[in-house]
Amino acid sequence: MTDKMIAESKDQLGAQAADYITRVLKSALQQRGFANIALSGGSTPKVVYKHLQHTDALDWNAVRFFWSDERMVPLHDPDSNAGMALENLLHPLSVVPNTIFTPPTFLQPQAAAAQYELSLRRILPQQAPPAFDLILLGMGDDGHTASLFPGTKALNETRRWVAANYVKSKEAWRLTFTYPLLNQARHILFLVSGANKAEVLADVLENPDSRYPAAQVKPHSGNLIWFLDQDAATELR
Ligand code: 6PG
Repeated sequence: MTDKMIAESKDQLGAQAADYITRVLKSALQQRGFANIALSGGSTPKVVYKHLQHTDALDWNAVRFFWSDERMVPLHDPDSNAGMALENLLHPLSVVPNTIFTPPTFLQPQAAAAQYELSLRRILPQQAPPAFDLILLGMGDDGHTASLFPGTKALNETRRWVAANYVKSKEAWRLTFTYPLLNQARHILFLVSGANKAEVLADVLENPDSRYPAAQVKPHSGNLIWFLDQDAATELR
C-alpha cells in the first residue's frame, strides 16, 4: 500500500509523521515486545525528531535504533546523521545506549559497511534480510534517498544489505542500506519538504517508469507512506 499525507508546513509534517511513527512502534511493541527502526539524516527528519522527543506514550527502551545511511564522519561532526538523531531524539528521550546501533564510521568504508551488516545479522537474525518495523527516509532534489545517489554503484546491489557507496557529486564515501534490505521493511516513511524537490517528487510518485533512486523503494509486502509539505507537493496532479 502506498499512501501520502500533505501537511501545510514542514512543522506540521513533523507532528503528523511523529504521530504515525509512534503508532507503528506501539503496535510492533504490542505484537513482538520490541521494535526495530532505522533513522535517517536530513533537515526534514530533524523536525520529526523534535516532535517525537516529546512522546512518552511508549517504552523507548524496547526500541532498537539503526541508521539507513551515514556519512563517514565521527558522531560529533555536524554532518553525522547518527549524531543529529542522538542530539534531537535519543538523548532527549534518555534512551539506553545498548539499544542504539550507530554505523562504525571509524572504519574504512568497505569494512564499515561489512561490519554494520554483520551487526544486523547478529541482532536481527530472524529473517534474511530482516524486516524492519519502520525505516525513515528523506529524499534529495536529485532523487536520491538514504545514500543511494543517481548513477552510483550501490543502486545495483542485489546481495549486500549495507553498502559503501562512493558518491562522485559529493566526493565522498557514504554507508547506505541497499534496496534488498529497504524493500523488506514493514513500513517505510518518506519525509520530504521544500519546493526544490517538487518536480522530482512528481516524477517519483506519478511516473511509473521513474528512474530516480527514491522511486525504486517498493516494499515487497510492507506499507509505503509519504509525508510531504505543501511546498514539496506543488507539482503533484
Ligand atoms: C543524507 C540523508 C539524505 C537526506 C536527503 C533529504 O545523509 O544525506 O540521509 O538521504 O535524507 O538528502 O534531506 P533534507 O530533508 O535535508 O532535504
